[in-house]
Amino acid sequence: MISEILKGNLTEKEVEIKGWIHNKRSSGSIVFFIIRDGSGIIQAVGKKDELKNFEEIEKLTLESSIKIKGIVKKEERAPGGYEVEIKEMNILQRADEDFPFMRKHKFNVNFIMKNRHLWLRSEKMFKVLTIRSEVIQQIRNWFLENGYKEFQSPIFVSGACEGGSTLFEVNYFGRKAYLTQSWQLYAEAAIFSLGKIFTIAPSFRAEKSKTRRHLTEYWHVEAEIPFCGLDDLLKEEESLVCYVCNKIGEKFENWLKEFGRDAKYLKGLSPPFPRIKYKEAIEILQNKNVNIQYGNDLGADEEKILTQEFETPFFVTHFPKGIKAFYHKIDRENPNVTLSADLLAPEGYGEIIGSGEREDNYQILKKRVEEEGLSVKEYKWYLDLRRYGSVQHSGFGLGLERFIMWICKLKHIRETIAFPRLIGKIHF
Ligand code: 4AD
Ligand code: MG
Repeated sequence: MISEILKGNLTEKEVEIKGWIHNKRSSGSIVFFIIRDGSGIIQAVGKKDELKNFEEIEKLTLESSIKIKGIVKKEERAPGGYEVEIKEMNILQRADEDFPFMRKHKFNVNFIMKNRHLWLRSEKMFKVLTIRSEVIQQIRNWFLENGYKEFQSPIFVSGACEGGSTLFEVNYFGRKAYLTQSWQLYAEAAIFSLGKIFTIAPSFRAEKSKTRRHLTEYWHVEAEIPFCGLDDLLKEEESLVCYVCNKIGEKFENWLKEFGRDAKYLKGLSPPFPRIKYKEAIEILQNKNVNIQYGNDLGADEEKILTQEFETPFFVTHFPKGIKAFYHKIDRENPNVTLSADLLAPEGYGEIIGSGEREDNYQILKKRVEEEGLSVKEYKWYLDLRRYGSVQHSGFGLGLERFIMWICKLKHIRETIAFPRLIGKIHF
């Protein structure tokens, strides 16, 4: 595997690589390939006087699949610092000439979306999706190291968790069902059995607005914790975010640099993150002449301005109840606000986590369901949870793609996922 070669333990050894021709240049008697094998990318050099099929090799098309045997050499000038001197090359399949993405050209977004199945092979996608895989792995590590169990909830659901306006409706044997917006309500049932739980699963939002940070199908990292209030919840969130950022910073220094992200920054993140209340956030914005009133939700534009005040992710807490979902706990000291918290990433990225303490009192929750115009009958099962051993509990939801977008300093959320689902069209 190329990744093993790049670690430096195979220098002067013979290796076999099965992969694809990522790029190629030739000078008549010597040909330089860039080879990709899923684990990494490396330069391989073939010489005319050493290879019996040199002429055929030299004419190979990009993306042809090949198998090579060769000797690993240290080569400072090669990307990654190593190259392979090819001793033997077998062609597995010669790719058609018309591969749509010739390296080093620029392609427009529409063309990329239409050819996404082939665009996945680009260096950018290879690197981002490799980091994505590692982010998921590290998230899971953190949860398991901290005593959480992994729990799955249904994708077909009967009601809204995050408001009706972004629900995707499906016909479920003649009755209405929806694609889940969040596992949370089911997770609240499960903590009574399992204790601290988490999931990494798709969530769906029928977003009406076209933005750089919304997908209609995204991966949601969620946690639900019994016997936990807002303060302890925020500690869990910042611990998870720092853990993952530290690990990714350590592992991907060079790639992150190519994306414009200094790995030192990620490695240096440590708790606690700053905390401000929603009320203070409004004051900051008003002092900057932003036209916003107490009670208005923070949109992408407002969040962007707020993020200029911070170098690290920061929490905005205690949102008024009018702009938060019905399940948020009402602050007993100030009944107009909820014990809620969003975590905002700096540099304009904005909200990456939505979270809070859950209303655990039956009467208050029932009233909130009614106030929001929801059906008490529909939520009976959820209300039941406040009747049988109700406890203080809290949870959060992290948007995986938003998190990766910020970690890798990417401009658009579609760059963080293989086959993005955006408003409008599904290409395939
Ligand atoms: O803030 P949200 O709506 O919170 C919830 O769904 C809670 N029930 C989570 C919980 O407490 N278990 O969504 C959580 C996060 C957001 O902060 C954002 O990062 C991400 O999910 N998110 C999206 N990511 C991509 N595209 C979208 N359309 C998203 N909507 C939310
Ligand atoms: Mg939110």
